[in-house]
Amino acid sequence: MRSHYCGVIGTEHIDETVTLCGWVDRRRDHGGVIFLDLRDREGIVQVVFDPDTQEHFERADRVRSEYVLKVTGRVRARTEATINPAMATGAIEVLGKELEILNTAATPPFQLDEYTNVGEEVRLQHRYMDLRRHEMQERLIARSKITSAVRNFLDGEGFLDIETPILTRATPEGARDYLVPSRTHPGQFFALPQSPQLFKQLLMVSGFDRYYQVAKCFRDEDLRADRQPEFTQIDIETTFLDEAAIMDITERMIRELFTAVLGVDLPEFPHMPYAQAMERYGSDKPDLRIPLELVSVDDLMQQVEFKVFRGPADDPAGRVAALKVTGGADISRKEIDNYTDYVGIFGAKGLAWIKVNDIDAGVAGLQSPILKFMPDDIVGQMMERLGAANGDIIFFGADRAQVVNEALGALRVKVAEDIGLVGEGWAPLWVVDFPMFEEDGNGGWTPLHHPFTAPSCSAQELAANPGAALSRAYDMVLNGCELGGGSIRIHERAMQEAVFGILGIGEEEAREKFGFLLDALQYGAPPHGGLAFGLDRLVMLMTGSQSIRDVIAFPKTQSAHCVMTDAPGAVSAQQLRELNIRLRQKQDSGEAG
Ligand code: AMO
Ligand code: AMP
Repeated sequence: MRSHYCGVIGTEHIDETVTLCGWVDRRRDHGGVIFLDLRDREGIVQVVFDPDTQEHFERADRVRSEYVLKVTGRVRARTEATINPAMATGAIEVLGKELEILNTAATPPFQLDEYTNVGEEVRLQHRYMDLRRHEMQERLIARSKITSAVRNFLDGEGFLDIETPILTRATPEGARDYLVPSRTHPGQFFALPQSPQLFKQLLMVSGFDRYYQVAKCFRDEDLRADRQPEFTQIDIETTFLDEAAIMDITERMIRELFTAVLGVDLPEFPHMPYAQAMERYGSDKPDLRIPLELVSVDDLMQQVEFKVFRGPADDPAGRVAALKVTGGADISRKEIDNYTDYVGIFGAKGLAWIKVNDIDAGVAGLQSPILKFMPDDIVGQMMERLGAANGDIIFFGADRAQVVNEALGALRVKVAEDIGLVGEGWAPLWVVDFPMFEEDGNGGWTPLHHPFTAPSCSAQELAANPGAALSRAYDMVLNGCELGGGSIRIHERAMQEAVFGILGIGEEEAREKFGFLLDALQYGAPPHGGLAFGLDRLVMLMTGSQSIRDVIAFPKTQSAHCVMTDAPGAVSAQQLRELNIRLRQKQDSGEAG
C-alpha cells in the first residue's frame, strides 16, 4: 500500500512522490490550507492539502484524530521559517495529492499527547490506544531489538533454543502457583511454570549442553513496579561449566547487548559476597551508584546504657548500624518523621539521628535526641569511625539484623533519591557466596534461591550446620535491580535428597513432587548450572522506564487483573461441570462446596 514509513521521510526524498499510510495525529486548518500530521510506528510527517486538489482537500477537511489514511503526495522542503527542528521530519513536508480514508475513528478515550491526565487504569483499559504513543512504540521496539541481540549472542555461542511445557507440575521458585484444572483427570491440576528450572536441568541430563529460551514464567505473588504475575525470562543452562565460566558468558552477553543497543560500555562487574552486601548496603541488590554505606557500631553500643541500642548490640542476632548521609543536615524534623514512618514499614521501631553542626566543637557541636544516653567518648569514637563532617546527618537502626538491614538499606536508597545523591550511569555487580538457607521462622529452613542449588560444601557439612552453608549461586545486579540469578545445580541424587531433607521435604513428598528429577539424577546427570535474566527488568532499565508495566505490551494491574479484557473472568456452569469443579457459594462462607 505504501512506499515509505512516515517517520523516515527526509530531505533526501525531496521532489519524490511518496505514498504513506498511517493515523492522523493532528489536523489543523490554517485559512484554507489543511495540515495533517500523519503517524506510523517510525514517526510523524506533516502533510499539506490545499484547495487545488478539491476532492482530496474536502476529504482532508473531514478527517479527525486517529482516522487511518492513505496519502500520496510530493515531498518538498519547508521554508526556512517553517522548519521544525524538534521533529525528525521537520525539514520537509508532503504536498498531498490524493487522500483515501481507510477507516474512520471514534473520538479517542484520551488524547494521546495528554495521556498523563487520565491515569493508568484508563490507559490500560484502552491499551491499544496507549501503545500508539511514540514513547510506548519506542519501548516495545527496543524490547524487540534487545531480545534479538540476546538471541544472536546466544546462537553465536552455540546455545540451542528449546521450548519447555507451560502445562506442567509445580516448579518451586518461592511464589504461589497458577493452577489449571484438568478435564481429563478430574480433580487434578496442572501448574503453570514459575520458571523452566527443572526442564532445563533435564535437558542437560539429555546432553543438549547449552540451552536457552525466552520463556514466559508465571508467579502468583504480590506485585510491585518490578514484578508481574506473568513475565519473561532469558533462561540459560549449561553443562561442564563452573560458576566463573557461566558468569563470564552471561556478563559478556549483557556487555555486548549494552554496546549493541545503547552504545554503552559497561564498567567492571565487581564480585561482592552476600555477607558484605548486607553489611555495607543492607541489601543483596545494592545500588552502587549511591555513595552511602551502613557502618556497624555494635561494639561501641555494647558500652552504653541506652537500652534501645544496647539490647541489639549484645544480641548475636541483632545489629546496630549507622548510615551517614553526606550533606544531609538540612533534612527537616518533618522529613525525619516521614523517614521514621518509612523505616517502620520494614519493622524498625524508631529512627535515631545525629546532625553534625560543628565537628570540632565535640558533642556540643552535635544535635540529636539520643546524645544524652551516651558517654561523650563513645560518641567521639563513633564520629571518628564514620568520618563525620559538618553538614552530615547520621541515622541509626538498632534491632534484629534483618530489620536493620532492610530498614536502613531502603532508607539509604530513599534519602539518596530525595536529595539527589544517586550517581549517573550504570553500576553492575555480581553478588556471590549466598547462604544456602535462611530460617523460615518456624524452626525450619527455606532455600535462599531454589532447592536445586548446589552447596559449596559436602553433604555432611551441610547437614551439620545448614545455617552456615554457602551456595554456588550468583545474582547479577544493575543499579539496585536484581537482573538475573542462577547457580551451579545439584547433579547427584544423594546431595539432592540431603537438601530436601534439610528443607523438611520427606522422602514420600520428594518422590511425589520431584520423582522424575531424582530418577534423572541417577542416569548419568552431568555437572551443570545456569542462570535466568528478567527480560522485562532488563528492558525497563535499558529504556529508562519506571515500571516493567511500561515495557510489556499488555500488562496486568497491581491486583493481577487485565482491565482491557477483564481477565480473570467467570466461566460457564457447563465448563465448570466438565472440569468437575463446584464453586463455593461465597468466599469465606465456611465449609460450603
Ligand atoms: P529467579 O526466581 O531469581 O530465578 O528469577 C530470575 C529473574 O527473573 C526475574 N523475575 C521477575 N521479573 C518480573 N516479574 C516477576 N514476578 C519476576 N520474578 C523474577 C528477575 C530474576 O532475577 N530458575 C531460576 C533461575 C536459575 O536458577 O537459573 C529463577 O527463576 O529479574
Ligand atoms: P525513645 O527513647 O524511644 O524516645 O527513642 C529515642 C530515639 O531513638 C528516637 O529518635 C527514636 O526514633 C530512636 N529509636 C527508638 N527505637 C529505635 C530503634 N530500634 N532503632 C533506631 N532508633 C530507634
